[in-house]
Formats: sequence, C-alpha cells, structure tokens
Amino acid sequence: MGLYAIGDLHLHFQTDIKVRGQTKGVWRDHERKFKNSCERLITDEDTLVLVGDHSWGKNFSECEEDFAYIEALPGRKILIRGNHDMFWDAKKTSELNERYQGRLLFLQNNYYSYEDYAIVGTKGFTFEGPFYLNRRGQIVGWDEEKEEHAEKLISREADRLRLSFEAAKADGFRKYIMFLHYPPTNIMEKESEFTKIAKEYFAEQVIYAHSHGEMRFHDSLEGIIDGVNYSLVSGDYLKWIPKKIL
Ligand SMILES: [Fe+2]
Ligand SMILES: [Fe+2]
Repeated sequence: MGLYAIGDLHLHFQTDIKVRGQTKGVWRDHERKFKNSCERLITDEDTLVLVGDHSWGKNFSECEEDFAYIEALPGRKILIRGNHDMFWDAKKTSELNERYQGRLLFLQNNYYSYEDYAIVGTKGFTFEGPFYLNRRGQIVGWDEEKEEHAEKLISREADRLRLSFEAAKADGFRKYIMFLHYPPTNIMEKESEFTKIAKEYFAEQVIYAHSHGEMRFHDSLEGIIDGVNYSLVSGDYLKWIPKKIL
C-alpha cells in the first residue's frame, strides 16, 4: 500500500487553457505522461491525493471529461480544493462527496484515513504580492492593502484546517499528513498560521502545490523544519510523476 501526491493537473479536456505556456515543454501532452506514470506506479490498493487546480472548467458540466480522466486513474483518489477549481464552491464539499460517492473523495473540513494516519488539509492561502523590488531584485515593499485582505483569507483557511485536524483527532487519530494547495508560507516568511498548526498537531509532513513554473519551485519551505517535512508536489515540478509520501 502506498500514499502518493501531485497537484496542478490543470486539465482542459473541455475548456481553453488559461495560462500561457501550458502547451509547451513539460506541459506538452501532460495528461498522457501523468496517466502513464500513474499506471506504472499506482495500484488499486494505493491512495493518490490530488492537491488542487484539477480543472480549468468553471462548473460541473465543463469538468465532466476531466473528472472522467481522474476517475479512470488507478487507486483511491482524494481531492483538495485549488484556487482555480471554480466547480468547487467552499459550501459544496458534501454535495461533491455525494455526487462522486464510491468514486472520488473531496477533502475540506473533513479527513480521510490512510493506515493509522489521518489525511487532513484545506486549500490554504498565502500573500503573493505584488512585491516591490529594487534594482538588485531585493524586496523593498509590497501592496499592504492586498496583504491585509490575504490575512483574512489565511485566517478562514486556518479555521478550516483546524476543523479537519479536530475531526480526525476526535476519531482517535494522532498521526497526520497535512495537505495544502497553496504553499504554507509566502516568499518572505519562515512561518505562518499553517506551519504553526502543523507543529501544534505534530503533523509529520506538509504537502503543497500551486507553485508551478521553474521560477516558483523554491518559493516556500522544503525539507525538515521544526520536525515537519515540507514538500512541493506541483505536477510540472515532479515532471508528472506522483511523489510517494508514505
Ligand atoms: Fe495551479
Ligand atoms: Fe493554484
């Protein structure tokens, strides 16, 4: 049995791509590359966590083929909400779980078990600027209004993350793997609400995505920090090979 993760598939079987460059290089034919690596690595005994930004579709009907593709992948599939997942309103998680019962699992305010671990998580959020740079490329300031707005979103997502941990804890779980779509910290931070929660509950690992494009691969925490192992699993970073978590 294995636990695997990857994020940012940005499927577009029925819609246009919204980001330049997602047809070239590592993104060329990425659906086929990813499907092949899943079929090589993952069996139906395994669990695959898809860490957000699943589809460019704006609603259920525009996502149908993308979901059919995900459903056909091997293993048990758990999905986290990404910022581009327009089909997934924050209040729609139970509706999604009913709609895809027995086929896909949607994680928000709840948790799923994997052996004696609880898989917990939420979309998360982090302040992404704009940052103002000097001629040497050093950060000398940022948009404070946007930062203030980001703090509200971070606090709401931190509450959702706590609900996920508490649901698992109430059922007796003491070992956690924590998933976020957004990186746990912004490019200036060493800690955040999310890293504090990870430490408080003794999460063994924090897995996140969202940072794609080479320029952003090292925007946040990586490796073991304060006893928590941080990993980026965006699809282009992993070259469409899901990362083995456990
Ligand atoms: Fe993305
Ligand atoms: Fe994203």
